[in-house]
Amino acid sequence: MSAASVIAVVGAGQAGVQIADSLRQEGHEGALVLIGEEPHAPYQRPPLSKKWLIEAGTPGSLALRGPEALARRQIELKLDTRVVAIDRAAGELRLADGARLRYDRLALSTGSRPRRLSVPGASLEGVLYLRALSDSSAIAAALRRCAAEGKALIVIGGGFIGLEVAAGARKLGAAVTVIEALPRLMSRVTAPIVSETFEQLHRRHGVDIVFDAAVVELRGTAGHVTSVCTDDGREFPAGCVVVGIGVVPDDELALAAGVACERGIIVDACSRTSVTNVVAAGDCTARRLPDGRLLRLESVHNAVEQGKSAAAALMGRERPFCVTPWFWSDQYDVKLQMAGLSQGYDQVLVRGDLHKPAFSAFYFRAGRLIAVDSLSRIPDHMLAKRLLDHDLSPTPEQVADPSFELQSLLKQTA
Ligand code: APR
Repeated sequence: MSAASVIAVVGAGQAGVQIADSLRQEGHEGALVLIGEEPHAPYQRPPLSKKWLIEAGTPGSLALRGPEALARRQIELKLDTRVVAIDRAAGELRLADGARLRYDRLALSTGSRPRRLSVPGASLEGVLYLRALSDSSAIAAALRRCAAEGKALIVIGGGFIGLEVAAGARKLGAAVTVIEALPRLMSRVTAPIVSETFEQLHRRHGVDIVFDAAVVELRGTAGHVTSVCTDDGREFPAGCVVVGIGVVPDDELALAAGVACERGIIVDACSRTSVTNVVAAGDCTARRLPDGRLLRLESVHNAVEQGKSAAAALMGRERPFCVTPWFWSDQYDVKLQMAGLSQGYDQVLVRGDLHKPAFSAFYFRAGRLIAVDSLSRIPDHMLAKRLLDHDLSPTPEQVADPSFELQSLLKQTA
C-alpha cells in the first residue's frame, strides 16, 4: 500500500479527529478526508450536558479543531455529509447525495446515539435526547421555558446524562423529577456509597427522585408532552422531558459492509476490525479482550486512545491501547472522576469526607485495586490512574488506614 493512498475517516467526533491528527503524525502523506454528518466543525461533547446548558456560548467555544487547523494539516473536512454505504469491493463510500468517494484505507468513528424510549407518546414534542450540539441547544431552551412558566422537567434515567441535565435545570430554576428504573443512581458504574452521595446531593438541590419506576406512557396536549406516567399509576406533570437511558453504538454502516459487529464494531487492542485496512475507534466499537469478552467504553479518553492506535494500525504499526480507562461527570460543584473499571468488585473502601462530599471509593477484586471513584478529590484520581497504569495495588488495609501515604507506593516506579 503506497503511503500516498487515500484514507477516509467516517465520523468527525473526538475519535475521528484524533485518527486524522494521528495519521499525519504517523507520517501519512496522501489524501485524508474527514467526513461528518453534522453542519458544525468537530466539537467537544462533554460540555453539552454541563456548562453549555446553562451558559449561552457560541459553537466556536466548543471547537475541537477549527477548519483552519485541519486545513493546515491537509485534512479535508467534509461537513453535512452522510455516508450511506461502504462499497468495499469498489473501495468507495456512497454518500447521501448520490456522490461516491474513493478510498484505499478506511477508519470508522461513527459514534453512538441515544437509546430511544419506546412507550406510547414517546415521539411527542418536548421529549428530548442529548447527543449533538443542536440537542443541547434545544434542551437549554426548553429548560428556560420550564423555569419561566413554572413547569417541571422530568428526566427519565438517573445516569450521567440525566443527572447532569437535572443539575443544569436546577441552576436555571426549573423544578426537576428524575425517574430511574433501578433502585439507585448511576448503578451501571458506581458503588452504592457513591450513588447515595449523589442522591443526597440532588435532593439537597431540590430534585425529586423516583426509583424502581417503569415509564409506561407519555401524555400530551396538542402534540406536546404534558405528563409522564409510571407503572405504579402515578402521573408526573411535565413541561418537557429529557430521556437519558443509555446509548446504542452506530455500527450499521460497518455491519452492512460485512465488518464483524456485536453491540459495536469489534476491534482488537490495536483498533483493527475484522477487515484488512479498516480500523474503528470510539463509542462505535467493542474491544475484544484477551479472555474473549467484549468491552464497550463510552468516553473521551477511549476515543482519543483508540484513535491513536487506529491511526498507527492503518500505517502498519502496532500501538495497543492498554492505559487505564477514565471518565468524569460534573454535577453542581461536585466533580466525579473515575479511574479503572469497577465491574466485578468484591470490596469497597472509602477515604475522605463523606459529608462534604470529598472522598474516594477504592474498588478491590480479590485484594487488588481495580478502580477508584473520586468525588472532588483530584489528587486521588491522579494517583489512582498512576497506580492502575503501573499495575500497583495498595492493600485494603493500607487504604483503610488514613495515615498510610498511598503516594509512597509510586516510589517503586521512580
Ligand atoms: N426508565 C428509567 N430509567 C432507565 C430506563 C427506563 N426505561 N432505561 C434505563 N434507565 C436508566 C439506567 O438504569 C441508568 O441508570 O438510565 C440510566 C442510563 O445511564 P447511563 O447508562 O449512564 O446512560 P446515559 O446517562 O444516557 O449516558 C450515556 O453519555 O455522557 C455520556 O459517555 C457517557 O456513557 C455515557 C453516555
